[in-house]
Amino acid sequence: MNVLSNDEINHIRGSVNIVDVIGEYLPLTQKGKNFFGVCPFHDDHSPSMSVSSEKQIYTCFSCGATGNVFKFIMDYEHISFPEALKKVADKAGIDIAIGDFKKNTNTRFQSLYDIYEVAVKFYQNNINTKEGKEAKEYLRGRDITDDIIREFGIGLSIKNREMLTKLLLGKEFAHADLLKSGLVVKNEYGYQDIYYNRIMFPLWDPSGKVVGFSGRVYHGEKEFKYINTKETDIFKKGELLYNYHRAKEEARMKQSVIIMEGFMDVIRAYTVGVKNVIATMGTAVTKEQAGMIKKMAKEVILCFDGDRAGAKATLACSNELLEMGVIPKIVRLEKDLDPDEYIKKYGKEKFLAKLENPISVMDFKLNYLKQDKDLSSTVDMANYVNTVIQELAKIDDEVMREISLKKISQESNLDLDFLKARLNNLKEKQEPIKEVPRVLEVNERPSKYQKAEAGLLYYMLRYPEVIKMYQKKITYMPTDRYRYLAREINYFYKNYQSIDMADFITFIGEDQELLKTLGEINRLNLKEEYKIDEINDYINVILEYNIKVETARLKEQMKRTSDPFEKANIAKQIVGLKMRRDESD
Ligand code: UTP
Ligand code: MN
Repeated sequence: MNVLSNDEINHIRGSVNIVDVIGEYLPLTQKGKNFFGVCPFHDDHSPSMSVSSEKQIYTCFSCGATGNVFKFIMDYEHISFPEALKKVADKAGIDIAIGDFKKNTNTRFQSLYDIYEVAVKFYQNNINTKEGKEAKEYLRGRDITDDIIREFGIGLSIKNREMLTKLLLGKEFAHADLLKSGLVVKNEYGYQDIYYNRIMFPLWDPSGKVVGFSGRVYHGEKEFKYINTKETDIFKKGELLYNYHRAKEEARMKQSVIIMEGFMDVIRAYTVGVKNVIATMGTAVTKEQAGMIKKMAKEVILCFDGDRAGAKATLACSNELLEMGVIPKIVRLEKDLDPDEYIKKYGKEKFLAKLENPISVMDFKLNYLKQDKDLSSTVDMANYVNTVIQELAKIDDEVMREISLKKISQESNLDLDFLKARLNNLKEKQEPIKEVPRVLEVNERPSKYQKAEAGLLYYMLRYPEVIKMYQKKITYMPTDRYRYLAREINYFYKNYQSIDMADFITFIGEDQELLKTLGEINRLNLKEEYKIDEINDYINVILEYNIKVETARLKEQMKRTSDPFEKANIAKQIVGLKMRRDESD
């Protein structure tokens, strides 16, 4: 198999300019040597992301997001490294095939992905055996054809709770990885499958890899209709939307995306040709998910269940989107029906007509807040007007506000100017408190040592001679995350005999912790050029710390030993350390 080497990957990266590439996604303006734009990785309105043409990296000074051109495309488009590499290669006019090196990347959690690959095949196979007859009948009863079963990878976990575990152990996966995958449990019978007797719906991460399952009961009554895989290293519920990877292209083409609650609803919509549709899977929408939705399409339509819970979820999801600056449209289904039931009951045409005629989020809110209220009562009316005005303050659209105020004015017989004044008053008071994301933990004020470590790392990332100084003098950085970064820099330097930040980022790959530390270091307000005295100061501060810790350890050891020779030996070591410290002063 033809595998791309690191050098070839770095060559591809070096064949495009990160400024041009990011410039295709968002407007950039030049200020001095660098370019600036609004960071797409956190909720922001001011240009806090800097893109360096010289270093070929970007860094957001607000949220700390940092990376090279691959990382940007991966995070922006929610695609895997090979896919991002392919895109960059295409831009550079270099011909590569993704399949060539797929297996060689993402090694960190590769065994978990591999376990899921085995599990999906196993479950899919089951549903086509004799044991799958009943499950197939159930699905057929719900109008789910064999084509749909295949398209959505639907499978079956069977009665015997040993089968998947045995299959995986036979393929020499480690017990520990089996447990980590969330598919196997260790109990009084040993290792057993978690899922049995359920119809298995694979859940994909944004790049389309299976990272979890939702298992549905299909006969008899059970306490839990669906059981979802626990959170794992590869399955992050708050960052996943059902069917995202399949709906993404369609949503971009139609410039519209439809959000539902249940994945059965998505599957049903798909069968009638609505493919730009994703599901929240019955949980509150997180900031990450709202951010993903925002990037999918201009028009966002919420089509949740028709019942009260669905209305409540619509309100919560709307507000999360509004905070991101997305003004969604709303479809409400009659008679408490969910989209799946609605389509089955009224058919495709009526459902499509519903989607064609969504209501505005403000009209939805007016209706929602009116329910259970008797607007002929003064108390209810006052409550209603007050809450509506609060909700209006969240919407950043003058026209919609004006129209809504007129409506409330008519309903309440209150003067329009009075309502406007109330709204303006409220908006001034509740200017949203912007949460500035921070890389450092709140209680973590950098100590003298940490400042020295960070400063040293800053220049190690820029100058090979600083890496050499580090290697000569320092063996140990006190702070875990800095030590880890220093180790990786050294390792990179050993391989390449040079340091290039953009290639270093490729080298560390999917290690989010390390990237976070790198972002933290890159945000330091330090000069590009270093002074040798400055580096020596950093080194001395770290040495002093190491000597202090080591001395304390030796003293402790001395206390515990009764052997006089041993004691003398330790004392000698302590004196040696002391001399080292005096030398470095
Ligand atoms: P619903 O209860 O609306 O599911 O929950 P549904 O789509 O109508 O499912 P069917 O038609 O009965 O098969 C919506 C979503 O909430 C999650 C699932 O992801 C589901 O798609 N859910 C629901 C669970 O995780 N566990 C449950 O027990 C129920
Ligand atoms: Mn349903």
